[in-house]
Order: sequence, then structure tokens, then C-alpha cells
Amino acid sequence: MNVFGVDIGGTGIKGAPVDLDKGELTAERLKLPTPHPATPESVIEGVREVVTHFGYSGPLGVTFPGVVTDGVTRTAANVDAGWVGFDARSAIGARLGLPVVVLNDADAAGVAEITFGAGRGRGGTIIMLTLGTGIGSALFIDGRLVPNTELGHLELHGHDAEKKASVKAREDEDLSWEHWAHRLKKYLVHVEMLFSPDLFVLGGGISRKSEKFLPFIDGIRAEIVPAELQNNAGIVGAAMAAAKL
Ligand code: BGC
Repeated sequence: MNVFGVDIGGTGIKGAPVDLDKGELTAERLKLPTPHPATPESVIEGVREVVTHFGYSGPLGVTFPGVVTDGVTRTAANVDAGWVGFDARSAIGARLGLPVVVLNDADAAGVAEITFGAGRGRGGTIIMLTLGTGIGSALFIDGRLVPNTELGHLELHGHDAEKKASVKAREDEDLSWEHWAHRLKKYLVHVEMLFSPDLFVLGGGISRKSEKFLPFIDGIRAEIVPAELQNNAGIVGAAMAAAKL
């Protein structure tokens, strides 16, 4: 069965049809730059362009980089404040004329990773962290998701953790891999202190370059592995959610 997933991020709106038996994209994904300001209207237009490019019609899964409860987006750390309290599911559904599910981006990526990627077949407590414009989190207990955990916004040394340890922070501050890995390690120590996971899965585009920073991260009890679906995890997770519509 093929279902379509769209991943709305701080830098790009990406989408593709997904083969849900394999957890793989069935066509090369289309990525449009996220408009600035990333208002609901401009982003939804981007979602529409991505979906119509493939001529898709059917259930649609859409990820959002913030808290989502019952189709309503509740926070907007890296997109326009107009998303706070916005009924995204109804608005996207009305614009595209399709049944839509909206879920947090890291939750979607995590579901894809524990089904098809680095966490498959694993029980216990698993925390997937997506490292990108912000830091997203997905917490699983024996395969069951606790949605909207928002661990990227834990306070670390008086700062919002994602402002210091995200990939954007590394780029904005021009940090060496070692320097950034040191910050990421402090963050992981903190998360481990709170949740004692069995496994950390580190995702986002940076998971392709894990050999550059993982060697600097020691002193964590939990196993740490890079995500396997890399930047497609959000699209796959969104399509998996849509398949349940
Ligand atoms: C948001 C999360 C999101 C993460 C990654 C954070 O700023 O609060 O909801 O998962 O960025 O996009």
C-alpha cells in the first residue's frame, strides 16, 4: 500500500509517496524551502504544491515541528506564531480536499525508526532525538509512543537546550564537531539522568555524519545509534499515521 507523507521542517517542506510494507519512499522526494515567515497559509500552500506535484489523492500524513494535539498545532518554536492554537488538520484537509492527520515531526520520525530503522525489534525505553533546526524527541516504552515530549526544550545550564545543541547552533556559532559533540554529550547526560533510556537513536540529516561526532560522546550508559532512515524518517512516519485514517 502506498500512502503520502509530508514533513514540515524549519528549513524544508518534503514529501513523497511511501511503500508502507518496506518503509521506503517509492519516488524521489520533493523538497521546497520553508517560506519565511512560515505562516500557516504559506506553509500549507507549500504542502499543496508538494502533494499535487505527485498527483496524489488519498489519506495524507503531515508532520509539524511543534506540539500537535488532536490536529491542532500548539507551539511554534521554529515557525510563525500563527500556528499556535491553529486547527492544522482542518485547514490542510480543506485546502487539499483530502483526509489528513497531523503529528509532531519527531514523533513521526521515531515511529518510522522503531518500525523500520535503528530501533526495530527493540523493547524497553527508547528515546529518538532529531537534531536539526531544533531538537525533537520521541519517547517509546516497549514500542508505545508517549507523544509530544518536547525534550529539546529542557533547560540546560540556564539555556533552552536546542539553542545550544541543535545542528543550527553548530552552524550559527561555527562550532567544531568536537565542541558541538561536547554540548550534545552534556544534553544526553541530562536526558539520561531524567529517563534512563536503554537506547538513544540520533536522527536528522546529521545522522549521515555520525562518525564525525559520536566518537567524542562517552560516559553515557545507554547505547547510542544513528538513525537509519535519516532524513526520510518523518515522511515515512507521516505516511504510517495516514494509513490508519
Ligand atoms: C519543537 C519540537 C520539534 C523539534 C524538531 C522543537 O523546537 O518544539 O516540537 O519536534 O523542534 O523540529
